Amino acid sequence: MTKTHTMGLPAGLLALQEQLGSQTVLIGDAVPERNRNDWSSQAPANPIAVIRPKDAGEVSAALKACAQAGLKVVPQGGLTGLCGGARPEDGWVALSMERMVGVEEIDTAGSTMTVWAGTPLEVVQREADQAGLFFSLDLGARGSCAIGGNLSTNAGGNRVIRYGMARELVLGIEVVLPDGTVLTSLNKMLKNNAGYDLKQLFIGSEGTLGVITRVVLRLHPKPQCTMAALCAVSDFEALVGLLKAARTGLGPTLSAFEVMWPDYWHVVTERAKVKAAVGKGHAQYVLIEAQGTDEKTDPPRFQAWLETVMAQGLLSDAAVAQSLADVQGFWALRDACAEFFQVIGPHVSYDVAMPIGQMADFVRQCKAGLLAAGGVQSIYYGHVGDGNLHLVAWLDGASLIEQPKAAMDDVIYGLVKTCGGSISAEHGIGTQKKKWLGHSRSAEEIALMQTLKKALDPGNLLNPGKVVSV
Ligand code: FAD
Ligand code: LAC
Ligand code: ZN
Repeated sequence: MTKTHTMGLPAGLLALQEQLGSQTVLIGDAVPERNRNDWSSQAPANPIAVIRPKDAGEVSAALKACAQAGLKVVPQGGLTGLCGGARPEDGWVALSMERMVGVEEIDTAGSTMTVWAGTPLEVVQREADQAGLFFSLDLGARGSCAIGGNLSTNAGGNRVIRYGMARELVLGIEVVLPDGTVLTSLNKMLKNNAGYDLKQLFIGSEGTLGVITRVVLRLHPKPQCTMAALCAVSDFEALVGLLKAARTGLGPTLSAFEVMWPDYWHVVTERAKVKAAVGKGHAQYVLIEAQGTDEKTDPPRFQAWLETVMAQGLLSDAAVAQSLADVQGFWALRDACAEFFQVIGPHVSYDVAMPIGQMADFVRQCKAGLLAAGGVQSIYYGHVGDGNLHLVAWLDGASLIEQPKAAMDDVIYGLVKTCGGSISAEHGIGTQKKKWLGHSRSAEEIALMQTLKKALDPGNLLNPGKVVSV
């Protein structure tokens, strides 16, 4: 290390580098570009260092050294978060889980997997599959996001309707508290009411209360067949009827109910040129997926159900997948939103929730309100079976920093408040939605969040200012 690197740096950080090595503690110019930002469309920051520990002991040493030096620390997983949660501020230390990867154990009798927090979601899915089991969490960022990040954001994704959010897929957790205490609670049992369920404090708290290092995940039986239909409806009333019919008729096999509005459909099929098995001109498009246990009986049952809803007049068009390639082709329409930066250009993405009965009005008012706010364009899609709507908004010709985000926020979160919805269904709060937390949480709820933060992190050094300020 040269003299310029060390000048002005806290001695504790240099001592930590001495202790853990220069591959673990990267300082100054050695900080990689990727650790300066997440996916939340903000300018890259200048962290003072990146620490890449290999286990909970090294995380503990890092947190103790940073606490002593008064350095603020941001935990980082795969950096696909959309709310600024993993973005450091200038002068902070990024604590990256990127070297804490791999599966420690798969217990096929108990259907659990113990895995390091930095393991990419796709690897967790693949390892479960190879063991003859299934890890149900799935989202578009699967190749890049890490399981520790998924838990820290309580990620939702495509199969919540059947298996629940990340929170419901966790049995045990190892976490390092801001003072360096290692809390190893790698429970493998589904039932365990021995006192407070402490893991729930850390799931969904966006790295503000502790650093997750290992987790015990709940696996499910591997589905034996996957059925999918791409459906079109002529109005939102039919869509609500279709959801009800899918819940009733497909029962526990229903694994996804993803909806796309015509504006989204247009961008994906006409601009991104993704091929679609149904034509344009409908009110909404729905990707319905069901997972079965019997490849002889489940596909014909799915087909029969679809024919019934068609006969009931709920569908204006539909295509059924005849092969796995067809299933993947349907999902390509839904996953195409990952390419929106290339297709649409600079934009802001939103993630809201509301009772499904209010969703059609919300979309209508939101689209009109955004257009009235200086010509902002918007497109709509989401996990509508879970009451979760995504929308992407942008002003044509404006760069990322020129996007009128404050005006967009006013329109969107104002409407969310009116309909008693949530400003974040699944992505979290980070820094980007903090101002609006009071639209979805009471003053008493926010006060309790602050109490918890102060109790666990009295120095306010772990991801300070994210979710709530104290
Ligand atoms: P990061 O972005 O690295 O971090 C997210 C937050 O968790 C930060 O606050 C960070 O400080 C904290 N954190 C990370 N690791 C740890 C740890 N080990 N201990 C403590 N805190 C930690 N989200 C959904 O819920 N559903 C979707 O369908 C979905 N689809 C997406 C599609 C695309 C194309 C993209 C880009 C994002 C999508 N997301 C979705 C958002 C994002 O992928 C999820 O929030 C994901 O769970 C974040 O994981 P990550 O590892 O990238 O976390
Ligand atoms: C999705 C992300 C944006 O569902 O949550 O595509
Ligand atoms: Zn989503």
